Amino acid sequence: MSATPSNVGPKAGTVAVQAAGKSVELPILSPTLGNDCVDIGKLPKETGLFTYDPGFTATASCKSAITYIDGDEGVLLYRGYPIDQLAKESSFLEVAYLLMNGELPDARQMGEFDHDVAHHTMLHEAFKNFLGGFRHDAHPMAMLVGMIGSMASFYHNDLDYDDPEERRMAAIRMIAKVPTIAAACYRHSMGWPLRFPRNNLPYVDRFLHMMFEVPSEPLVLNPVAAKALDLLFILHADHEQNASTSTVRLVGSTGANPYACIASGVAALWGPAHGGANEAVLKMLAEIGTAKNVQSAIDRAKDKESGFRLMGFGHRVYKNFDPRAKIIREMCHKVLEELGIDDPLLEVAMRLEEAALKDDYFVQRKLYPNVDFYSGIIYKALKIPTEMFTVMFAIARTAGWMAHWLEQQTDPEFKIGRPRQIYTGSGIRDYMAVDKR
Ligand code: CMC
Repeated sequence: MSATPSNVGPKAGTVAVQAAGKSVELPILSPTLGNDCVDIGKLPKETGLFTYDPGFTATASCKSAITYIDGDEGVLLYRGYPIDQLAKESSFLEVAYLLMNGELPDARQMGEFDHDVAHHTMLHEAFKNFLGGFRHDAHPMAMLVGMIGSMASFYHNDLDYDDPEERRMAAIRMIAKVPTIAAACYRHSMGWPLRFPRNNLPYVDRFLHMMFEVPSEPLVLNPVAAKALDLLFILHADHEQNASTSTVRLVGSTGANPYACIASGVAALWGPAHGGANEAVLKMLAEIGTAKNVQSAIDRAKDKESGFRLMGFGHRVYKNFDPRAKIIREMCHKVLEELGIDDPLLEVAMRLEEAALKDDYFVQRKLYPNVDFYSGIIYKALKIPTEMFTVMFAIARTAGWMAHWLEQQTDPEFKIGRPRQIYTGSGIRDYMAVDKR
C-alpha cells in the first residue's frame, strides 16, 4: 500500500493547455490514494506562464509516502494505518518509528528504538545558559524555538547528510531531546530547578516527571494522565503538508541544519491558525464562560467585521469531520470522568459544537471541530498550563517533521523550494536624490 516518491508517475494521461499561442501536453500524476495532479513543470518553459495559487490550496509541493488525508471522508492514515487503529493499539514512540521508517517495528526493532531515544534525552549543560537568558514570563513557544535552534550549534560540523545513520541519529536526538527542552522551558517559567530525564521510564512518563516533579516530593503519576497524553501525541504526530511541515521542508530544501529546520517548524506551528489554536480554544471557552453565552459567540464568529473566528473549528483539508477530533472528544469525557474532574468548560465546548453544527453558516462552509477543539480541555485536566498546549503539539509533531526531513533527504526530485510571485509593485523608475523628491 505504501508508495515511494519514485513509483508515482504519469499514469493517468495528460491535460492539453492552450496558452500564449502554443499547445502543451501536461502529464497527470496518479498517487496511490487521492486526487490526480497535473504536473505543471514544463509550463513556464514552453509557454512562459506560471501558475498562481495563494495558500497552496490546489498545489502539491512534493511526493510523500508518510501520511494520507481524505478530507471529504474524514480519513487519516499514517503509512497506510488508520488513525483510529493506531490510537487504540499503538504508542507514540511506536508511531514515531512507523513515521520515520515506513513500517511498524518488530519487538527487537522497537526495543532498540526505545533504547536509542532514551539514551539521547540529556541536554548539554550549556543549554542552561540559553535558558537563563529568557525572562521568566517568556512564552514557552518562544523559548522552544530558540532552544531547538540553538541545538544546531551543538550538532553542526559533524553531521554528514549523506550518511543514513547520521540522519537517523539526528531524528533520534530530536525526538529524544524536544521533551527535555519543553519541560525545561516550563520549569524556567516556574522558577524550578531543571529535572534530569529518567531513562528507565517510558517516553511520556519520563516527560511528565521532567515537567512536574519537584525536589521536595516525588511525583505520583496517574496512569490515566500518561495514557491520555500518549494518545494526544499519536493524534498530533503528523498531518502531511501542513504549514509547519511545509516550513520544515522548505528550510530543509536549502540544506540547512535539521535542528534549524525543526526550529522553523516550531515557529510556524505557533500561530493561532495552526497549532496555536489549542491555546486559543481554551482562552475562547473561558471567555464564553457559560452555556448561555454560546449563541452570542456563534453570532460573533459569523460576523466578518468582528475579527473573531470559532477557534478549533474549520480545516483546510477536512470538509467532513476531523477524525482526530472524534477520538479526542470521546477521550475528553473519559479522562475527565476517570480523573474525577468536573470542568464547566467541557459543557461550554459541547454546547458550542452543538450550536455550530446546527447553524447554516457552519454547515454551508463545512466547518467542523478540528483536533484542537477538545484537546485543551484534556491538557487542562492533566494540569498542563494553557501556554504549554502548543508546546505539547510540537513535541508530538517533531516525529512527523523529522520523518518528512528524512524523506526529503532521499527524494530523487529534491530541489530548493522557491515559489514564484505575481509582482504588483511599481514599474521601473529612476532613483531621485532626496532634495528632489
Ligand atoms: N470560524 C468562523 N468562520 C470560519 C472559521 C471559523 N473557525 N473557519 C473558516 N471560516 C469561514 C471563513 O471566514 C470563510 O468564510 P467565507 O467563505 O464567507 O469567506 C470560510 O469559512 C472558509 O475559510 P478559509 O479561511 O478560507 O479556510 P482556510 O482553509 O483558509 O482556513 C483554518 C482553515 C483552519 C485556518 C480556518 O478554518 C480557521 O481559521 N480556523 C480557526 C483556527 C483553528 O482552529 N486552527 C486549527 C486548525 S487544525 C490544527 C492545525 O492545523 O494545526
